[in-house]
Amino acid sequence: EQIEKGGYENFMLKEIHEQPKAITDTFRGRLLAEENMIKMSSIEDNLDRFLNANRIIIVACGTSWHAGLVAEYLFEDLARIPVEVEYASEFRYRNPIITDKDVVIAISQSGETADTLAAIKLAKSKGAFVYGVCNVVGSSIARETDSGAYTHAGPEIGVASTKAFTTQITVLTLIALKLGKANKSLSDEVFKNYLDKMQMIPKQVEQLLKIDEHVKSIAAVYKDSKNCLYLGRGFNFPVALEGALKLKEISYIHAEGYPAAEMKHGPIALIDENMPIFVIATNKGHYEKVVSNIQEIKARAGKIIAVVTEGDTQVRDIADHVIEIPDTEEALTPLLTTIPFQLLSYHIAVMLGRNVDQPRNLAKSVTVE
Ligand code: G6P
Repeated sequence: EQIEKGGYENFMLKEIHEQPKAITDTFRGRLLAEENMIKMSSIEDNLDRFLNANRIIIVACGTSWHAGLVAEYLFEDLARIPVEVEYASEFRYRNPIITDKDVVIAISQSGETADTLAAIKLAKSKGAFVYGVCNVVGSSIARETDSGAYTHAGPEIGVASTKAFTTQITVLTLIALKLGKANKSLSDEVFKNYLDKMQMIPKQVEQLLKIDEHVKSIAAVYKDSKNCLYLGRGFNFPVALEGALKLKEISYIHAEGYPAAEMKHGPIALIDENMPIFVIATNKGHYEKVVSNIQEIKARAGKIIAVVTEGDTQVRDIADHVIEIPDTEEALTPLLTTIPFQLLSYHIAVMLGRNVDQPRNLAKSVTVE
């Protein structure tokens, strides 16, 4: 087992550090920036189904559901295709309206999650085209779907998903870009720019992993918190959910993710000087609005840990701590903003003496209802 951990303390840390390579592996043979194209035969062979779809319905559980939420923003923004994201367990028991004009995308690291598998069978029985995004090759979901793409993240042993999540987002971004190019939602120039920026992601993740000591020092300050709040907007709202999930899974600290603007409809009541609030405030999209959310937190004495774009000064002046991420397109930021939250949860859990690879009560793959 020590050998399998490759010199790391545990699998989770190893898997966090494997992300630059895992994302590169996900790109392999698909992202061909020099030829200005994305090659994915599973999409090319079924292009009509995707382009003529009434909508895409994404079904998944846990972290994979968060990747699905990121995909909702990606598909709608880059390819202008309407998307709904569903918890597989809710979808299958709701008598959902599905037709043969719908495309269902099932996302699953293990490919064995019982609820996701059942949702696929239901969608297929109603005539939908079902596409899988799985990590485990030959898994039940990979076999049960009509077509699909593997994430190629390699084995993920830690129960808390890390590299599986970023590689799911990678595959889903490639699909969204490919569809956006095919239906002309993206101009050739914009498409090319995305390919160039995508190609930089593995190096940027590598660069981000170097801030580990800084994140560790923030973890030391907040490790005894009882509650934490994670806020983000747009593409980074699902990252806030995932950040909170990661913390609760392995540290057992209660954490909630929220869309930043919804804070005033509830969570703001919880804010006091004991409440750390992790805010994603990259310099794109809704930056000014997030800055005003940060000011509202400040006015209530909450502790602010902000994830910002490198070189940011405005948030730095207000926040208690900042974590910088390299600059990229807004649609690609989830691949970067996720990383510091993984490290933060990891360090807090280790400081609290938790078993990060096998947290209590959780299973890597939930194969029963
Ligand atoms: C369990 C795992 C999570 C995972 C979820 C969905 O809860 O602990 O890490 O995100 O199942 O699993 P899947 O294999 O379908 O992605």
